[in-house]
Amino acid sequence: MSYDRSVSADPHELAPETVWHVRMPEIRVGRGAVAELGAQLDDLGVESNARGLIVTDETLVEIGHAGRVADRVEDAGFDVDVYDGSEREPSIEAVEECISFVREEMGEDGYDFYLGLGGGSCLDTAKTTRAIVANGGSILDYVAEPTGSGEPLTESGPPLVLLPTTAGTGSEISPVAILSVAEKEIKEGISSNNVRADAAVLDPTLTTSLPPALTAKTAMDALGHAIEGYTTHRYDELLRPENPADRPVYAGRTGFTELFSEKAIDLLSSNVRRAVNNGDDLDAREAMLKGALYGAIAGLTAGASLCHAMAYPVGNKYHTYHGETIAVLTPASTLGYNVASDPERFAAIADLLGANTDGLAARNAADRAREEFVRLQRDVNVLPSGLHELAGVTEDEIDWLAERTVETQQRLLRCNPRPVTKDDVAAVFRDSLHNWE
Ligand SMILES: [Fe+2]
Repeated sequence: MSYDRSVSADPHELAPETVWHVRMPEIRVGRGAVAELGAQLDDLGVESNARGLIVTDETLVEIGHAGRVADRVEDAGFDVDVYDGSEREPSIEAVEECISFVREEMGEDGYDFYLGLGGGSCLDTAKTTRAIVANGGSILDYVAEPTGSGEPLTESGPPLVLLPTTAGTGSEISPVAILSVAEKEIKEGISSNNVRADAAVLDPTLTTSLPPALTAKTAMDALGHAIEGYTTHRYDELLRPENPADRPVYAGRTGFTELFSEKAIDLLSSNVRRAVNNGDDLDAREAMLKGALYGAIAGLTAGASLCHAMAYPVGNKYHTYHGETIAVLTPASTLGYNVASDPERFAAIADLLGANTDGLAARNAADRAREEFVRLQRDVNVLPSGLHELAGVTEDEIDWLAERTVETQQRLLRCNPRPVTKDDVAAVFRDSLHNWE
């Protein structure tokens, strides 16, 4: 980045960033972590006669996870209700139903604590519900303009603990809740540190019921976070804001995020085959949960880039799962188009993915990352070969997809390590139609 210091009277203006900081919920990980829920709530200052709400979905009630979590909470002396109406990729209306449930049961003040149990959609429903009840009004008051009114969330509300049953989205630590706006065919995020949970409880015994295809899809999302976070711009390539509160949520990679990316890529790529083939393999499940957590710590702090930018228009139009969209787009975007930005860095990714790069020049070693990623996807045997198999996308739709990406995803595209034009995005979409025949 070039800038001319001489034009600035204030030494902070136009100076490169020199500070990074990380904000995280309290994190509890491992088999048996659910049994410590009472201690977790105590740690967060929840009083013994408090009444809370578990936000989840019907499947998790049916397979018994919701009951198991409720028992643990009640054994510890708390009262708890269950709301099982969360839906996949929740619409604003669906989350408003959860908010109405809370207001009907408990009045405007809501519950004393909240638990989110499930995949990213259940967790985002829990995050949004707590935030709106605590701040008053309705969701659209806080969604960014022009869809909503863009008011700031000033209150975080009572304690919120998230218990993921998938290993992938990173919603348990992120400051964002994603909601779909059906009539506009778009997704909106409510992004605020007041949306972030107070604690995440990651217990692999909650993930063994996840079917093979969903295990693979969520793993690919996690791997995407780890790799995109590892290859995005450095934090000190941005300018330092005058007010630290104006530092962006996706602030660039640091030595801290790189450590997490490296460990995440290794854990996820070396355990996903086992987790998909034998869902009851608790060692593999725990490794996946940790890999997804580390990937989220890296990617959702440093920032996602081109692949996630392209995934949103695809998901909105074709209603594909986020993780499988990331899976089909990663080879041509992150591990294809972006490789030229820093071949050595992508060569390191190839090594972390387990490719043999002995004796290869950096550029050739970097290309092995893409090959290894596609090999992994073929091995798990439950993922589509490309955009065409995923959603029937053809050449005719590429121009529209590229246009939507450039129009709606500037926030992510600005973080991409290599500049992108609409034509570049279209070429990457074309290259993603078939990753293998
Ligand atoms: Fe993602």
